[in-house]
Amino acid sequence: MRVTKLVLRNWRNYQEATISLGAGPQLFLGRNGQGKTNIIEAIGYFNSLSSHRVASDGPLMRVGDTNTVVRMRVLSGTREVSLELEFNQGRPKRAQINGNRVQPRELTRWFTSVLFAPEDLAIVKGDPATRRAFLDEAIVTRVPAFAATLRDYAQVVKQRSALLKNARANSYGSLSGSNLAMLDVWDEQLTDFGTRIMAERRRLISDLMPYLRDSYQNLVNNDHRPELMLAETGSLLQPGFTPETFVAGESDTNFDHLSNVSRETLMKDFTEALKQRRSEEFDRGMTLVGSHRDELFIGLNSLPVKGYASHGESWSMALALKLAFANLVRDESTTGDPVLILDDVFAELDGERRSRLLAAVGDYEQIIVTAAVAADVPNNQHWNTTEISHGRVVSPENSGEEGEL
Ligand SMILES: Nc1ncnc2c1ncn2[C@@H]1O[C@H](COP(=O)(O)OP(=O)(O)O)[C@@H](O)[C@H]1O
Ligand SMILES: [Mg+2]
Repeated sequence: MRVTKLVLRNWRNYQEATISLGAGPQLFLGRNGQGKTNIIEAIGYFNSLSSHRVASDGPLMRVGDTNTVVRMRVLSGTREVSLELEFNQGRPKRAQINGNRVQPRELTRWFTSVLFAPEDLAIVKGDPATRRAFLDEAIVTRVPAFAATLRDYAQVVKQRSALLKNARANSYGSLSGSNLAMLDVWDEQLTDFGTRIMAERRRLISDLMPYLRDSYQNLVNNDHRPELMLAETGSLLQPGFTPETFVAGESDTNFDHLSNVSRETLMKDFTEALKQRRSEEFDRGMTLVGSHRDELFIGLNSLPVKGYASHGESWSMALALKLAFANLVRDESTTGDPVLILDDVFAELDGERRSRLLAAVGDYEQIIVTAAVAADVPNNQHWNTTEISHGRVVSPENSGEEGEL
């Protein structure tokens, strides 16, 4: 699929802009702070119904304005749809598809993109929460409806932890009858949603692995072996899993096997893990079992990338993970390639990595790249270039002010 047109009204630093996009490599060029990332942020919003930069919608609305509209035209095969989002201060956002009002969540079914950004380095170098977010965002791109399960799960963890914290504050380690009954309810929901997330993450990693081996090889051209491994608090399959056992190669990295474990087994193990850690949970006043405490280990040649790999290797692994995911989505898609978005990524790479990355994504239906200067992107490609300055399209000039789709 590809984006053919984008209209921004009071989005970030854009008062009014209409941008036409073609097939193949698209380049947004402009000095820092002009509004390049703001454009790709708008496009990416239709994939996940969230910004990759901020958790709330407030900052997306142009300062001083109370009504923001983003319209995007998407071509999938021969079918073209018009997607629209409208933000009004103090009210829930609204959405339209081809002029018909829909639930905003519906939009994500009509557009798929995968974003590469300098922040992706944190997937391999950052804290466990960043890796969990990578998995969960990937799952939502793959299965848009799963966003509801993730939201429900987060809510249960919050409520259950509040109950445990209360119990600790009131009378150490004990709950009244009604609160105990409440804890049972939360346990049941935690187990239900938590094992759904575990199963979906296992399936993702199992499916991703062959793509990761390929994409890492394509980007780096050596025989390093990338590995992924989940340490799950709610699983008894890998008890006591730590980075050290990963180093020793003792862990079960066979995700084909792990992803075939039944829901019943997952639930049984999860319930047992909860039981085992109950008193610790009371001690600490928090939920210690579940996907919000699980960790994804990323390894190279039987060593964890974090703490061992060089800066260049870490970058290659981060890009390889994103590329692997894009290729997986592409193969699973019934609506064409996902749109690949590369925000300021080329500037981070040396010449050889730039060429390798571009070669690896060059046959995607559309790639959208931002750069501060043209020299940052390989010049062996024809780029359809749009120049951005101060929240305006300055070239090509025909991308004028008319905002109709
Ligand atoms: N809600 C907003 N209203 C007005 N201006 C904004 C808003 N959010 C960000 N900006 C401005 O947008 C600019 C940054 O745009 P960005 O797309 O990140 O730049 P770059 O071209 O470097 O990617 C900054 O000047 C910032 O002040
Ligand atoms: Mg930027």
